[in-house]
Amino acid sequence: MQRPIASLLAGVALLAANVCAEEVSSLRGHAVTDDSDTALNKQTLALPGGFAVAWEEQPPMIPHPIDKYSVDLRQNGCLKCHSPATYEANKAPVIADSHFFDRDGNRTQKVAARRYFCTQCHAPQAGAMPLVENVFQTR
Ligand code: HEC
Ligand code: HEC
Repeated sequence: MQRPIASLLAGVALLAANVCAEEVSSLRGHAVTDDSDTALNKQTLALPGGFAVAWEEQPPMIPHPIDKYSVDLRQNGCLKCHSPATYEANKAPVIADSHFFDRDGNRTQKVAARRYFCTQCHAPQAGAMPLVENVFQTR
């Protein structure tokens, strides 16, 4: 008895999901499921010298591609160029001093755990067309 009811409910949920998908419209103004969208140019923008920082305390944007660097428990691809020991050889800016303090304000030997996953805060920029006009004014 339970089986048929469960599959009936699943069927209803699936139907509801389909109906919703058709009604949702995106910032582009049409259904998110529209296949006619032109593919975005996803190439990561590289900007020698870096992007301007738009507001105080903004994590600077990453001015180079990052698809070849991974960050996991065993290794951190970003620190191969940005750590105090490696930055000079790679002509890269060293991670900010703030990255060496734990949440209690104690100085850490290595990059603080809360700053380990770089892309949690630092984002690269992609060559994608903005969906809507951006009127944000920098400082
Ligand atoms: C092969 C070396 C290398 C690796 C690996 C690398 N970077 Fe960089 N990074 C650089 C160099 C060199 C610059 C300076 C670029 C410039 O000024 O054009 C830079 C600049 C930056 C900046 C800009 C800093 C500022 O003050 O504007 C950020 C943020 C950054 N990288 C983050 C990262 C993150 C996050 C990763 C890992 C996903 C990473 N980088 C991996 C070499 C590297
Ligand atoms: C919790 C957010 C956060 C994380 C995680 C983080 N950063 Fe940052 N980062 C910032 C902010 C905010 C700044 C700029 C202000 C500051 O802290 O001095 C910055 C500054 C920088 C700079 C510029 C330094 C300078 O003097 O111009 C570099 C390079 C950088 N970070 C690299 C990294 C790398 C590599 C990692 C990973 C190991 C990382 N960051 C992790 C937030 C973060």
